[in-house]
Amino acid sequence: MTDVSRRKVLSLLAGGFVAFLASPSAVDAMPTIRAGDICKKLGRRTTEGNKTFECVNSNGKRVWKRVTATAQPTSTTQPAAPTTSEVKVLDSSALTVGKSENVVVNSGGRNFAVVVTRTSAGVFAFNRACTHQGTLVTVNSLNQLECISHGSLFNLTTGAVIEGPASRALTSYKVTERSGAIYLTL
Ligand code: FES
Repeated sequence: MTDVSRRKVLSLLAGGFVAFLASPSAVDAMPTIRAGDICKKLGRRTTEGNKTFECVNSNGKRVWKRVTATAQPTSTTQPAAPTTSEVKVLDSSALTVGKSENVVVNSGGRNFAVVVTRTSAGVFAFNRACTHQGTLVTVNSLNQLECISHGSLFNLTTGAVIEGPASRALTSYKVTERSGAIYLTL
């Protein structure tokens, strides 16, 4: 082989090597962290390919140490949805049209003071706690729910504020009536 052709072969080989180093796959394959390399922040973890490194203290120096990657959970546990339950509160016959009953409903270990009213439009139920400061409301002579503490008035079928100082409607409950009984969902 002549000197000229030998130089050509060497030049082609060198060019190919440079091209290999510059190729993305070659760069990707080259690790940028090796165990024992200096790191900055203790406890920091980083993963390269299938290798995980953690910055640890070793003989007074902060260095990367290869660790076993912690398995990632494949599913997350969803917080339990709030539970509601249906509770029988009255026999249907106990609530004729135009009548209201104050009942105490136990649900989930808690007691709820509730007023249940039947009108020609249906049965309605509200928590009796006034939304101002919690005094229990009662039905007044005008068929409104009235709080005697500071005079708030609420609509008997919607729970909406008629007069303050309360500014929020009473808490309402879903009412279901079947087989001669009235149930609330709390
Ligand atoms: S607590 Fe009912 S109006 Fe104040």
